[in-house]
Amino acid sequence: MNELQKVLRAAECIRAKMPFAPEIVLTLGSGLGDFAEDVDVVCEISYNEIDGFVTSTVPGHEGKLIFGMLEGKKVALMKGRVHLYEGYDAQDAVRPLRALKLCGASTLFLTNAAGGVNFSFSAGDLMLIRDHISPFVPSPLRGENLSEFGVRFPDMSCVYSKHLCDKVLEAAKNTGVKLQQGVYLQFPGPQYETPAEIRMFRTLGADAVGMSTAVEAIAARHAGMEVVGISCISNLACGMTDKPLSHEEVQEAATAAKGKFTALVRESIRLF
Ligand code: HPA
Repeated sequence: MNELQKVLRAAECIRAKMPFAPEIVLTLGSGLGDFAEDVDVVCEISYNEIDGFVTSTVPGHEGKLIFGMLEGKKVALMKGRVHLYEGYDAQDAVRPLRALKLCGASTLFLTNAAGGVNFSFSAGDLMLIRDHISPFVPSPLRGENLSEFGVRFPDMSCVYSKHLCDKVLEAAKNTGVKLQQGVYLQFPGPQYETPAEIRMFRTLGADAVGMSTAVEAIAARHAGMEVVGISCISNLACGMTDKPLSHEEVQEAATAAKGKFTALVRESIRLF
């Protein structure tokens, strides 16, 4: 099966089970999966019931597609995503988004846990993603172009929708949640960065670093979706404090930010 056939097959599996066509896809990052509890769940589909969906091997990434209502909007929550460091191709990582686009979704709301690179950030901050740096990871558009989705050489001058970023900023104001803004850099992982790499990334203009998301944003833009994203700054990046990094710390910090994260995402979706 070629990639297009795999995406079409995945979309067919979802359509056979979905209760409605979703407007918004919300991808939940490490430690942020509990957000699913805030949605009026209509239907849950396990990733292994959907041909072409691969499941994550990482704790905190469960592997469920949840359809529900949030602030009157029809949302599809991806509870769990796969990462390139698990050995998956970038195309595997973005197949669910492409399939959900075929099922009707026009907006992608990305969330992730990320390390803060900007010295003015603190662990526990939330950051609105204004742009990204992706050349350290393979493009999800590598290989034959899927012209059913978009053009061979898609423009990336505005990956993160200005219109939706404005809504998230308004939501931050309405809810009183402090919101940083910045550039997200995708690192291949799975090892965390070295202090020298973090210094390099800061020089390159990154404010936060993580191991997902940019490839997802690229594929969604290629497919003509509107993209918006929030990083939960779970830790300051390597070399910025004396503490060694661990996945447990990342998950704990994301869980601790749950209250403000939920309030911000909910209000953003209300305004979208
Ligand atoms: N680096 C890369 N990915 C991450 C980090 C980090 O410091 N924190 C959470 N995800």
